[in-house]
Amino acid sequence: MVQPVPVITVDGPSGAGKGTISHMLADTLGWHFLDSGALYRVVGQACLLEGVGWDEQRAVADIARHLEVSFRTAPSGEVLVAYKGRDVSRTIRTEEGGRGASTVAAIPAVREALLARQREFRQPPGLVADGRDMGTVVFPSAPLKIFLTASARERAQRRYKQLIAKGENVSLPRLLEDIEERDARDSGREVAPLMPAEDAVVIDSTATAIDDVFAQVMQAVRDRGLLKA
Ligand code: DC
Repeated sequence: MVQPVPVITVDGPSGAGKGTISHMLADTLGWHFLDSGALYRVVGQACLLEGVGWDEQRAVADIARHLEVSFRTAPSGEVLVAYKGRDVSRTIRTEEGGRGASTVAAIPAVREALLARQREFRQPPGLVADGRDMGTVVFPSAPLKIFLTASARERAQRRYKQLIAKGENVSLPRLLEDIEERDARDSGREVAPLMPAEDAVVIDSTATAIDDVFAQVMQAVRDRGLLKA
């Protein structure tokens, strides 16, 4: 029997460290990587560029259905994202980019439009998929599902440090408010809300260093027999 291409899903709220852990995992295993949040971010950005409001459900879904997006890894290792050939790598990562993504992601027709596109990333030898509904909706048969979480305060503090290091002028209370607002929208929506799959391994990183979190994830990878000698 042909074995399906293995997938490890990494879901959780914004700022829990999913991106870092997923990249480490994909590098260690030599597997492909799906940053599903980037697709929603590009839809939000495309709306701004096309003059479509994030709440114009039909027009936003139309954009998602015909999304001309491409991903390319630069020699520096940075993943470059383009919409209609135009580089949007930086703009999609701003706080506004996150708000737009979270808003358009609540539209059922947008999620439907991106489903097949996300599944196309499942290519040999394997896929690490980072998002909110990777284990519950997009890859429900994944042999390993991780749900990575941390308190909202800790996530806001981590984001604050990152932005300050980049020289940006930000306020911690405002970041905490944004994170709580985004959590409420991502968890409260009717379609594919953020929640752990029933069979997910839940890891709380609030008081755990990233290397220790990664060690726990690798243990789960070994336990499932996903690490080839
Ligand atoms: O992972 P991220 O912060 O780049 O995601 C941005 C937003 O996109 C997030 O707030 C909710 C939405 N999203 C989603 O609804 N489903 C996914 N699988 C990934 C992201």
